[in-house]
Amino acid sequence: MDEEGWGAKPLIWQEPENFAKIIHDFECSLESLQTVMSNQASATDTSEALSQVRQQCLACHQTYRVRQS
Ligand code: HEC
Repeated sequence: MDEEGWGAKPLIWQEPENFAKIIHDFECSLESLQTVMSNQASATDTSEALSQVRQQCLACHQTYRVRQS
């Protein structure tokens, strides 16, 4: 794996519980988004739920992705 390029950090394998927790939080944020969308909630609520999902993308990338986003 090239540290200068793209990829997943080996840290994932050293911290499987924390990685699993982030995946769990990510899934929860996706479920919330699905709920607001299927309930045809207001644009504000939908946008808020989408923003939560985005936060989870970033939380995982900042810790476990070689190139930050
Ligand atoms: C649980 C951790 C985690 C979550 C949550 C996550 N990512 Fe990632 N993502 C990664 C890792 C690790 C990589 C680097 C993997 C690789 O290149 O092998 C990556 C890579 C990527 C890439 C580059 C893919 C490529 O082909 O190189 C994109 C785009 C991306 N993620 C988008 C997202 C988006 C959008 C979300 C949220 C909807 C998200 N990710 C959520 C861990 C995560």
